[in-house]
Amino acid sequence: MRLTLGDTFPNFDAEALGAVKFNLYNYLEDNWGLFFSHPSDFTPICTTELSEAAKLNKVFHQKKCRLVGFSCNDLSSHKEWAKDIMALGGLSGEVPFPIVCDHDRHLATELGIMDPKEKDSQGLPLTCRAAFFINPQKKIKAIILYPATVGRSFKEILRVLDALQLTENHPVATPVEWQAGGNCCILPELSERDIKEKFPKGHETRELPSGKAYLKITPDPRG
Ligand code: BEZ
Repeated sequence: MRLTLGDTFPNFDAEALGAVKFNLYNYLEDNWGLFFSHPSDFTPICTTELSEAAKLNKVFHQKKCRLVGFSCNDLSSHKEWAKDIMALGGLSGEVPFPIVCDHDRHLATELGIMDPKEKDSQGLPLTCRAAFFINPQKKIKAIILYPATVGRSFKEILRVLDALQLTENHPVATPVEWQAGGNCCILPELSERDIKEKFPKGHETRELPSGKAYLKITPDPRG
């Protein structure tokens, strides 16, 4: 299955660290979800990423987003690895989100997240670094896909989540290098009447050589 934007992220039951019987939809409830996959347990980049995610778990919760880690190993491996993840982050206790197990790679294959190039020491394919942003209706709103050799930026992941949550509810798009709270662009298809009604804080139209008035900048419409 090749998942793309607008698809429903499939529900699944699986073994997972931190959950007796993990069911994705039950776990997410009506929150946003970030499902992020890793090539393998006990690999350096994955450990740094999960450690960072553990540190940021509260920030994701405040944004009503639940983290779901994924790595193609079994529960006993995840349990051992969890100690490294927490120690690296200077954290104590359990990893604060589930890490899904998939030792036979059936889920990774079904989700279409196998890396075509990277193999483990036994020559078995590894999963790539996929991050699926799932909205409360279980639709995929964004996907970030990196190869195993490139670690992700959780700053960028949080920025994308902020942008998705803003643009789900307001007829705006976020410009280059946007950060939460920054100015955004009014969707070009809006009529002048709609703009007046929906953007009481006003807007500025940038004059461009084309003379086309399509770049309309407005403050963050929330609050
Ligand atoms: C890592 O997470 O460190 C890693 C995993 C597979 C290939 C390269 C790096």
